[in-house]
Amino acid sequence: MSESTPYMAIENVSKIFGSYEALSDVSLDIHAGQVLCLLGDNGAGKSTLIKVLSGFHEPTSGTVKINGKPVQFKSPRDATAAGISTVHQFGGTFPLMSLGRSFFTGVEPTKGWGPFKYFDKKFANKVVVEQMQEMGITRVTDGDRFVGSLSGGERQVSAIARAVYFGAKVLILDEPTAALGVKEAAHVLRIIMQAKHRGIAVVLVTHNVSHALTVGDHFAVLIRGEKADDFAKGQRTREEITDLMAGGEAMAELEAELASLTGSGDSIHD
Ligand SMILES: Nc1ncnc2c1ncn2[C@@H]1O[C@H](COP(=O)(O)OP(=O)(O)OP(=O)(O)O)[C@@H](O)[C@H]1O
Ligand SMILES: [Mg+2]
Repeated sequence: MSESTPYMAIENVSKIFGSYEALSDVSLDIHAGQVLCLLGDNGAGKSTLIKVLSGFHEPTSGTVKINGKPVQFKSPRDATAAGISTVHQFGGTFPLMSLGRSFFTGVEPTKGWGPFKYFDKKFANKVVVEQMQEMGITRVTDGDRFVGSLSGGERQVSAIARAVYFGAKVLILDEPTAALGVKEAAHVLRIIMQAKHRGIAVVLVTHNVSHALTVGDHFAVLIRGEKADDFAKGQRTREEITDLMAGGEAMAELEAELASLTGSGDSIHD
């Protein structure tokens, strides 16, 4: 694929919590216009890696680079300024905030001057509804609606719409399809492809092999904090990827073991 300098890269990054090494010497390239899928079992270090990319954690050692130059993110604000937009695993939105407000958190459009400045709600609501409609969420027609009243898929789409609207260069999504039904997940995957075609670098964490294979250009697998594999689309079979995602254990063996349990008379079902 592209031999050009990646927009973002990490080199030999480790992250230690107390005496526990959650990330160990991980290097990764993140290219514009590509979807990088970050795979791995529970506790493998995926969210920790994302928090390093998004300025939430400083790495214990190693380097983060933007356009080939080392950077130090002291806070998520620094990462945002470098064009990195992150939708974290467990939301982070306020359910009782209006859609318009939440879309413009931190960059509130104002009207008036000096002490007479006020939040331009009309403008914010108009933009959020337009952006949602553009991304195929036609049921949302009122920016005054609470974020908490959106479905999981609509919430993911609104977060992606926000990143695209504010010109993100890197869009990081931690398990965006985990709690979604088939149709909503497909919609979110479609929006991810749209972002990629606009030239955004997407980092997607998922436990779902089909979702990863559908949208991924490149794949990196973490096992216990180490990068166990790193490959481009088409270089591994689906079965190989599934085994890697299960932490290197052969799924076929596990399935055989489960089959012997369920078929063994002393049923585990009631
Ligand atoms: N702030 C922290 N302090 C101490 N340990 C942490 C901290 N954050 C993460 N860890 C540990 O680091 C390891 C990796 O966690 P992480 O959340 O990155 O896993 P993950 O791959 O995202 O897992 P999942 O798929 O379940 O979301 C876990 O063992 C976790 O308990
Ligand atoms: Mg996680």
